[in-house]
Amino acid sequence: MNDTITNGPYITINSKTLINLSSNDYLGIKPSKIKKKQNQSSSRLIAGNNKSFKILENKLSKHKSQENSLVFPTGYMANLGVITSLVKNNDLVLSDEKNHASLIEACKISDAKISIFKHNNMDDLKSKIKTSAKRKFIITEGIFSMDGDFSNLKRISEISDKSDAITILDDAHGDFILGNDGKGTANHFGVSKKIDVYTSSLSKGLGSFGGYISSKKNVVDLCINKSKSFIYTSALPTFLVDDAIKRFDSDREAKRKNLWKNVKSLNKQGVTIILTTHYLLEAEEMCDRIGILNKGNLVALDSTKNLLKRIQTKIVTFVVNGKVNIENQSLKSLNVIDNQPGQLIVSYEKSLLNIEELINYINKQNVKISDISTDDGNLEDVFVRLTKS
Ligand SMILES: Cc1ncc(COP(=O)(O)O)c(C=O)c1O
Repeated sequence: MNDTITNGPYITINSKTLINLSSNDYLGIKPSKIKKKQNQSSSRLIAGNNKSFKILENKLSKHKSQENSLVFPTGYMANLGVITSLVKNNDLVLSDEKNHASLIEACKISDAKISIFKHNNMDDLKSKIKTSAKRKFIITEGIFSMDGDFSNLKRISEISDKSDAITILDDAHGDFILGNDGKGTANHFGVSKKIDVYTSSLSKGLGSFGGYISSKKNVVDLCINKSKSFIYTSALPTFLVDDAIKRFDSDREAKRKNLWKNVKSLNKQGVTIILTTHYLLEAEEMCDRIGILNKGNLVALDSTKNLLKRIQTKIVTFVVNGKVNIENQSLKSLNVIDNQPGQLIVSYEKSLLNIEELINYINKQNVKISDISTDDGNLEDVFVRLTKS
């Protein structure tokens, strides 16, 4: 661990001031000037509550279009609190393999049966959800903290609906950054109504401190009465709650729009733009050159086109009513993973194969495609092409 001094977008390490590309403070909202720095003396349930909490929680409920919200001392504790309150030992929890440590920990403590599905792999989720468990929970992030990619929330919502599951979304990295007015990843994908429980952090897009959940009133009431990480810990100091309120009411929408405008404008001026992986999927339309940061280190810098080519190998699964015969020379860039009657799984590099070609080729064999899915959350373009062909 290095000693650091952070100052807006800068960080000083060993007397060297650098641009801080590892910061979660995506918008850089100005710190508020809070005069009275009150520390809470105990848990909110004892003597640590203050009217500021309710003010912030009402704002957050509106922000997420939910009945109620509850502020926790951190996002980590919000995840522990809500998951351990809701999930019981006979339940089944389906958790993305790249979920944040706090979600993994919460699932472990809950004592439920945990089924880890492959990262963003909807086929794996679909097969693992088929069990006799009475209550099923799907837990995912909005923008994944490790890789910066988006979860396939549209498909997750569909699968959750079909299985009558409860969907918990940790949107720590999409909150205040994506969607109308920064409402988050579910809003961005148009599925906000399908999410049962939102959890998030106040320390990332908002640049403050703390965590929260937003959900139905009875879920929040349950957490107030059951969450150990809410009950048995000191309340978030009021000055931090007030700080979050000020930041929430700030010009954050203008900052959010500015974030993307800056990226585009710098690029137009020929400046190399280095994005954190959180924005990788949107990078293509924004700039010519991008870098990928992993834990603060620049691990790749290339033209956007080359870089995306390198990471855009897709795996596509076709559910078919027969066996597909792959002998066509024009499909040679295809890597067949599984080909048996009823199912064909292939991988291909996006730039080397037009998936439409493959669909046409299958259709010509009198083999009907009844379902098609991809591993990277980018289902739509495949579906669009499927309808066209
Ligand atoms: C996805 C995700 N959830 C929760 C947290 C925890 O948030 P906090 O820092 O407020 O405890 C983080 C923080 O890194 C995160 O990335």
